[in-house]
Amino acid sequence: MDYSLQCIECGKELNSDEHYVCPFCGGLLEVKISLSEVEVNFRLDGNNLRVWKYASLLPVKSEPVSLNEGGTPLYRTEYIEREAGIKSVFVKHEGLNPSGSFKDRGMTVGVTKALELGKKAVACASTGNTSASMAMYAAKANLKAYVLLPAGKVALGKVAQALMHGARVIGIKGNFDDALALVRKVSEEENFYLLNSVNPFRLEGQKTIAFEIVDELGYVPDRVILPVGNAGNISAIYKGFRELRELGLIESIPKMCGIQAEGANPVFRAFLKSGKDIEAVENPETVATAIRIGNPVNARKALTAIYESKGVAVQVSDSEILEAQKKLASEEGIGVEPASAASIAGLYRMVESGEIEKDERVVCITTGNLLKDPETVIKVCGEPVEVEANIESIKKAL
Ligand code: F0G
Repeated sequence: MDYSLQCIECGKELNSDEHYVCPFCGGLLEVKISLSEVEVNFRLDGNNLRVWKYASLLPVKSEPVSLNEGGTPLYRTEYIEREAGIKSVFVKHEGLNPSGSFKDRGMTVGVTKALELGKKAVACASTGNTSASMAMYAAKANLKAYVLLPAGKVALGKVAQALMHGARVIGIKGNFDDALALVRKVSEEENFYLLNSVNPFRLEGQKTIAFEIVDELGYVPDRVILPVGNAGNISAIYKGFRELRELGLIESIPKMCGIQAEGANPVFRAFLKSGKDIEAVENPETVATAIRIGNPVNARKALTAIYESKGVAVQVSDSEILEAQKKLASEEGIGVEPASAASIAGLYRMVESGEIEKDERVVCITTGNLLKDPETVIKVCGEPVEVEANIESIKKAL
């Protein structure tokens, strides 16, 4: 397939896959697929959903390193529809990917690209899920994996995954933004293939969320709502919708709505000022540790997605996030981690502010699995009660 890398700042096009940032101006790169030359060999008929169904729009040349990612369920949430008073609300549960988050869609493409480029090792900074996913795909591809984490600020399930899949995991005494700056340097010096969302190939895999939404629903929703951390996913999904429209497969693009936690809200703040540049939040803090990010690298891409699609950025409090997490789990049977619940908390905020019309068709993306962060669950729900091992005590406790 024909594609190039294009700088989102200076517009220069590169024909080498080796770069993640523009060698001329340092801007972020985006994969530009030659859509007029692509032979689309899939049908949006709801069948056979998975990332590689859309291979004709993915920029790799070799056999993919795959663990059957994608094809995640799209649940209709009737309780939430009723309570929020919205015509249709679906939840796309990305927590049911192989490693338990949407990152797998990106990693299958990113790790395949690492092999194509002849790399021996991959690396990332992470709030947890990226590292779990990268470690898993690196294991499958027989590559070394190096991970930098903000020490003490990553949910236990994610650290466990990265360790068990064989990554070298290093906690740093700093936050995610510090870890990302450091891993970018180290990767350059050590020739590691960097798999954070500055990597344009990884984001290509994530754009398949947009393809699957249209594929499964059979129409384009009015609005897509998702949590924003380093701001790669919202940019990727928007790109997916744009490509479908350019190919003439759909006519409209949903309003892209990005939700941030109040304590880590630089994209929301830039949106309030109608700006495209963020002011970094120095000490980001939120219970949703996955999106505890103060200086998102993809902020400019994300804000473009929001403005061009006529979407919004919204902030929600930690207590709203935890309430939404509980609601999804106890009313809908959908188990997600706190960051994911931000999308539902954001939906409720938008209902309150009048941003959403009653007759809209909405898709919320839940990005990670409940099992990722058991410690927060226990803090919220408490420990199970413990009783003597006899029927009487059990009956009393029922
Ligand atoms: N939800 C979850 C569960 C995440 O793990 C992340 C990002 C996001 C939302 C935000 O996505 O960064 O594309 O805006 N986690 C990254 C990580 C930063 O290292 O796992 P984004």
